[in-house]
Amino acid sequence: MFPPSTYHARRERLKRDLKSGIALFLGNNELGMNYAGNTYHFRQDSNFLYFFGLDQPGLAAVIDVDNDREIIFGDDLSLEDVVWMGALPRLKTLAEQVQVREVLPARRLTAFLKKARRAGQAIHFLQPYRHENMLLLKNCLNIPIARQKAAASEAFIRAVVAQRAHKSADEVAEMERALNVTGHMHVAAMREARPGQVEAELAGLVQGMAVSAGGNLSYPVILTVNGHILHNHDHGNTLQRGQMVLGDFGAETAMHYAGDITRTFPVDRRFTPKQREIYEIVLDAEVSAIASLKPGILYRDVHLAAARRMAEGLKALGLMQGNLDEAVAQGAHALFFPHGLGHMIGLDVHDMEDLGENYVGYSDAVTRSTQFGTAYLRLARALEPGFVLTVEPGIYFIPQLIDQWRRKNLFAEFINYPAVAKYRNFGGIRIEDNVLITEKGHRVLGDPIPKTVEAVEALRG
Ligand code: GLY
Ligand code: MN
Ligand code: MN
Repeated sequence: MFPPSTYHARRERLKRDLKSGIALFLGNNELGMNYAGNTYHFRQDSNFLYFFGLDQPGLAAVIDVDNDREIIFGDDLSLEDVVWMGALPRLKTLAEQVQVREVLPARRLTAFLKKARRAGQAIHFLQPYRHENMLLLKNCLNIPIARQKAAASEAFIRAVVAQRAHKSADEVAEMERALNVTGHMHVAAMREARPGQVEAELAGLVQGMAVSAGGNLSYPVILTVNGHILHNHDHGNTLQRGQMVLGDFGAETAMHYAGDITRTFPVDRRFTPKQREIYEIVLDAEVSAIASLKPGILYRDVHLAAARRMAEGLKALGLMQGNLDEAVAQGAHALFFPHGLGHMIGLDVHDMEDLGENYVGYSDAVTRSTQFGTAYLRLARALEPGFVLTVEPGIYFIPQLIDQWRRKNLFAEFINYPAVAKYRNFGGIRIEDNVLITEKGHRVLGDPIPKTVEAVEALRG
């Protein structure tokens, strides 16, 4: 955990920003996989972690801004719990570690909130994403589940985003720890991959490394010879000569700060010339996008510049054609690059996605595009010092998408379909790093992870 004063300072700022009412934080509970006692791995809610730090199930908390009270609701372990799961300090002692003085039994939460409502206090809550917390909100506040998203407090959401979007030096150091573990995982996958292996062998290797380092994965491993399937979680294919492996995976530390890195490498010892050409285009777009990062620049513009740069590379290979400014403005590049350039990262891999992507990645001045491809951009607004974000361009050949566009003759002015047909079984390439925006520019976080063609091939033996 961070020092107790960190959590106190975060709550004080939240009180100043919210001005009145009660801010309600719902921690996460254990969740049964196939029966109640056989649970998924426990992951605390990130907003709860950020403001109250305690990493255990069964907790909720309130900040009563009107009466300047902070209370953690939860129960001490029973003797039976201690017999099965071991002892824990009393909740009162744990609460002191985050500078909270008041604790109350979990069952008192409902009565507390009902009384506050009767007293006319506003109850601010964040949109829940776990069913148990949806039921709790329904019971405590009498808000039907279907209305909870709309009834979530915009003031609370904005106040949380305003703080969590700017990472402190302590948080950045924790993210670099996550990234250094993540880097070792990627190097291991690049070193160990062999033709004939099943993807699961490598996925298991890197997952084990994340756990061994004291944390866990920050999201389910993507490790696939079908890199064109963007979030492919299947690990059943056998690596074959001539293919590439796309690995998109990361560790989160014991404090739950995430790394999110992608590397793509050949199953053989060397990229084929065709693979290398596309790889160099993606790498050039990634490196130039990173080089352009600084406060004030719109991430949407960085995204569009990366799309433009990749379009140029694709034109040089004869896959795109025509006026590329027009092609990118109209969205023709999205045949090859159908996702956004990146997103904020922190306690969540897609940081604060539960609060609503538009609050996190957009602003009054920068609203979401409706165009296929750019519409998936999670971060578009002007960058500020303290933001940590991912830069992750990619080029993919998605047979179903190519077929559909070709059937409709979409963007025929910009896409050379007969040439694209020759890449039908190519797969996909993505390269991803995590970058801090500083006062003057940016800093790529973590120790460098090989990504030039030469450095990747050197790991392949
Ligand atoms: N790991 C998912 C992503 O890159 O957004
Ligand atoms: Mn990723
Ligand atoms: Mn990412």
